[in-house]
Amino acid sequence: MAASRALQRVVNIEDLRGLAKKRAPLPIFDYVDGGADGEVTLRDNRRSWDEVLFRPHNATYIPKPDLRTNVLGFDLAMPMLLGPIGFTRLINEQGERAVAQAAGAEGIGFCMSSFSGWPCEEVSKVTQAPLWYQLYLGGGRDVSEATLARVWKSGFRALAVTMDTNCPGMRERDLHNGAPALMGGNIAQMIPYLPQILSKPGWLAQFLTDRDAMFFPNIQIPGKGPCPASDVRAMLSGAVVTWADLEWIRKAWPGPILAKGIITGDDAQRALDHGCEAIIVSNHGGRQLDTSFPTARALPEVLQAVNSRAPVLVDGGIRRGSDVIKAICMGASAVLLGRAYAYGLMAEGREGVSKAISIFKADLERTMTLLGVHALKDLDSSFIEVPKHW
Ligand SMILES: Cc1cc2nc3c(=O)[nH]c(=O)nc-3n(C[C@H](O)[C@H](O)[C@H](O)COP(=O)(O)O)c2cc1C
Repeated sequence: MAASRALQRVVNIEDLRGLAKKRAPLPIFDYVDGGADGEVTLRDNRRSWDEVLFRPHNATYIPKPDLRTNVLGFDLAMPMLLGPIGFTRLINEQGERAVAQAAGAEGIGFCMSSFSGWPCEEVSKVTQAPLWYQLYLGGGRDVSEATLARVWKSGFRALAVTMDTNCPGMRERDLHNGAPALMGGNIAQMIPYLPQILSKPGWLAQFLTDRDAMFFPNIQIPGKGPCPASDVRAMLSGAVVTWADLEWIRKAWPGPILAKGIITGDDAQRALDHGCEAIIVSNHGGRQLDTSFPTARALPEVLQAVNSRAPVLVDGGIRRGSDVIKAICMGASAVLLGRAYAYGLMAEGREGVSKAISIFKADLERTMTLLGVHALKDLDSSFIEVPKHW
């Protein structure tokens, strides 16, 4: 499908966010856009990248910047992956398939959430993108082991284990919008919240014809079938990943393991001690423990603890290519995008995700050119100034 006029007019990720808000019902938009508690970390994630300042090498001719890199053996056309977003099929019926296709078309990776609406086999079939899988222990160890075997078989080659979800965060916007009532299936309880759903007939039409949107087919509960989306909060509270779990996860997964959700040097060290091959500095996009460190600020401490023994990736608040370049200058190997591409998916499915990626690509090339750097490997801390008080 061709991009709409509205999508063609989108210039940056904030525009894409605006278009997403127009197209989706408020409970869906807020599910993606919102954070935990007072949303302090959500805002700080964004703001902290702005506090890192550039020191360019001016008057340098850069014909075409080289954005290619390799992380854990995966070739990437840019230092970016599309990160795990749960309930993607509720955002847009094509969900993870659209995301994987858009990532593959631009040569970047996709890390698919455990809470994905499309079977892993259907996702790997439609893309050449390097595929990673994100693990929550939904359904317990046996169910997870079966899932790991299945996603490996279908072509997913790295595993991100999310470590920051001891319980679900307090997403106040979801409560204001009646998410528990809307997910619960009781019509009487749903009624007060229905007008905001009915006000977006485009989204509603695709939702009503998509019978599988409310299930997670990659978590198969024995005797029951795919895990229902309505069970997620209870499941997350009852199936916490602990450091001890990394032992059996290591045995069950033949590829590299990344610890996702690390914001301290101590936890980074612990992750390496438990056999993880890489770290993802993340606070879940400010959706878990509010007023925890924004990721740009946590990155230096984690890099120092890791001391070049493993790749360190980072996510959180990344909305511009310049944020990506700052992360690389600080020492990160790559970044994961979250909301930046989810807004695109909400606005216009695969076309919207492609738009988000293309905005980043143009930003990256322009930022490198303005900085006076030809190749990603030449970026280092001499190109930035990090606030002294960090
Ligand atoms: C709507 C939404 C759903 C998410 N679902 C998951 C998930 O299923 N698993 C996970 O590890 N992280 C999940 N995350 C966190 C992202 O992977 C990522 O850490 C975060 O979005 C990065 O911040 P940003 O959105 O500001 O870029 C989710 C984030 C959002 C916004």
